[in-house]
Amino acid sequence: MCGIIGYTGSENAREVLLDALELLEYRGYDSAGVAVKEAGSGKTVVRRCAGRVRDLRKLCETETHFSGCGIGHTRWATHGGVSDVNAHPHQAGSVTLVHNGIIENYRELIADYGLEGKLRSETDSEVVAALLDYFYEGNPQEAVQKTVGRLKGTFALVVMFEDRRDAIYAVRNVSPVVATLCEQGAMLASDLTALCRFTNRYFVLPEYQVLELRKDGVTLWDPDGKVMEPEYQTVDWELNSSGKNGYPFYMEKEIMEQPGAVTRTIEGRIRGGMPDFSADGVPDTLFTDCERICVIACGTAMHAGLVAQALVKSVLHMHIEVEMASEFMYSDPVIDEKTLVIAVSQSGETIDTLEAVKYARLRGAKCLSVINVRGSSIARESDYVIYTSAGPEIAVASTKAYTTQLAVFYLIVARMAHSRGIFTEEETQCFIRELQRTPETIRDVLARRREVHVLAKKVLAAKDLFMIGRGLDHSILLEGSLKLKEVSYIHSEAYASGELKHGPIALITQDTPVVASVTQDKLMSKELSNIREVASRGADVAVFVKDSLAKELEDYELFRLPDMRDEFMVMPASVALQLLAYYVSSDKGFDVDKPRNLAKVVTVE
Ligand code: AGP
Repeated sequence: MCGIIGYTGSENAREVLLDALELLEYRGYDSAGVAVKEAGSGKTVVRRCAGRVRDLRKLCETETHFSGCGIGHTRWATHGGVSDVNAHPHQAGSVTLVHNGIIENYRELIADYGLEGKLRSETDSEVVAALLDYFYEGNPQEAVQKTVGRLKGTFALVVMFEDRRDAIYAVRNVSPVVATLCEQGAMLASDLTALCRFTNRYFVLPEYQVLELRKDGVTLWDPDGKVMEPEYQTVDWELNSSGKNGYPFYMEKEIMEQPGAVTRTIEGRIRGGMPDFSADGVPDTLFTDCERICVIACGTAMHAGLVAQALVKSVLHMHIEVEMASEFMYSDPVIDEKTLVIAVSQSGETIDTLEAVKYARLRGAKCLSVINVRGSSIARESDYVIYTSAGPEIAVASTKAYTTQLAVFYLIVARMAHSRGIFTEEETQCFIRELQRTPETIRDVLARRREVHVLAKKVLAAKDLFMIGRGLDHSILLEGSLKLKEVSYIHSEAYASGELKHGPIALITQDTPVVASVTQDKLMSKELSNIREVASRGADVAVFVKDSLAKELEDYELFRLPDMRDEFMVMPASVALQLLAYYVSSDKGFDVDKPRNLAKVVTVE
């Protein structure tokens, strides 16, 4: 969950590190720190503090010595509270280190190597620094290999040794590290966001291989000490695409980018009006040979799976489960070689999803992943990958990743329906034409975002809020409710509206804010009754309604959604609910992009 960065080259390392940490801060922002090697003396200077990168930047203002080599860290606390002493980098003897992950056996290591007296922090990371120092006898690669041989858990370690002036070392297990050698020097980071200012060429550090970064080159050793060649990849993000481009928050920028993101995601996968995954190397047999589907994901990605579930049942009439990745391995899942597992993840690094994919594949399932970050851990663990083209998603609250995941699911369902003989070619093309309308309907919602802002003002003061709908509307609202919770801290609960009268309606009193979604022709009359039930008990109702259904709801505050076929209404409706959450949070004056307690990538179980 933390952000790590390392740089050695011709630029001012402290500035490179601080700028990169600002880009990585979405991964965790409890505390931050940098360590640089002063060019003249070669001395390592550490500056670290609880708080944001902006606080660290202030702390570094008095630093004048130039340095061309350093490492940095922005923390999401796992072991030890949020404090200066627990902030990274940690030092022990000749070692300076930053770490992302969880060392499960750090207490045993303290006892086994008599480290107790050497530690000042409460962190597992400082134990690793002390162990590295214990093993260091002048050969960094050897010391690193000896150390990781004793670690249990997940880690991305980035290390400097006092007597190695311009070199940085790294090793990982599960926690991500990408690296590159470019004209500015050699760099590594937790993810591409920090590298794509300099280059779009990178390689993923293979697990348990030791990486040495020098100003003019990189060296990789495998656990046996054999020199390995980095496997470079190219990311299809334009350089500097991870800036805010004038928006106050990344979340607003990324909401506004959705028409283009959806278009880029589908355009290369429609030929002759038909869905086509040949460029992704996904064979039709993956879709025709399976007897059931299991979607595995977390959070927003899991909510995209719920929409897929509705489509698979209504269009393909197939069995499909949507599994919370964190529960999957402990729920005795029924998985076999006839199960198509679809893992969904924006980052491709969510450890719950990664471990669930490994578990499913061990039981014979084929795994197709829908991922936004090329070459990520889940992508590498899958049999097949379909990449979304959302571009870098920086805001912790996921928006464009969600709608591009949905776009891929519409393509998958259409391809499966045709390859399994359920849709004729004409029916498939008709379905795809409706999908091709989604960028335009999203644009329509974005063009009227001020109307959503007005509705947002109604809920600003709310402490608790219900979101009610049936069927796909319920799935739409589960995601809308998560958005509102995570950026505005309002306790919002999405409820199947038909279920309210079995208990929760007891919570509806005068002026209880209720948001309803009414987008499904076949469910509208029932949803209207449920809205009347809460309104008659004093609820203050706002309805996101498909335009053609709005007539009977004109007694309530409405946001009219552009008409689409029922199963596609998720796209404009979810964008409207993203805007609702965004405006509530920004009007409350919160840091919308970095909500408290959260991090963008959850790499701890
Ligand atoms: C979404 O707004 C949240 N930030 C979170 O639920 C996220 O969707 C979840 O952690 C999964 O992340 P992933 O898509 O990178 O796997």
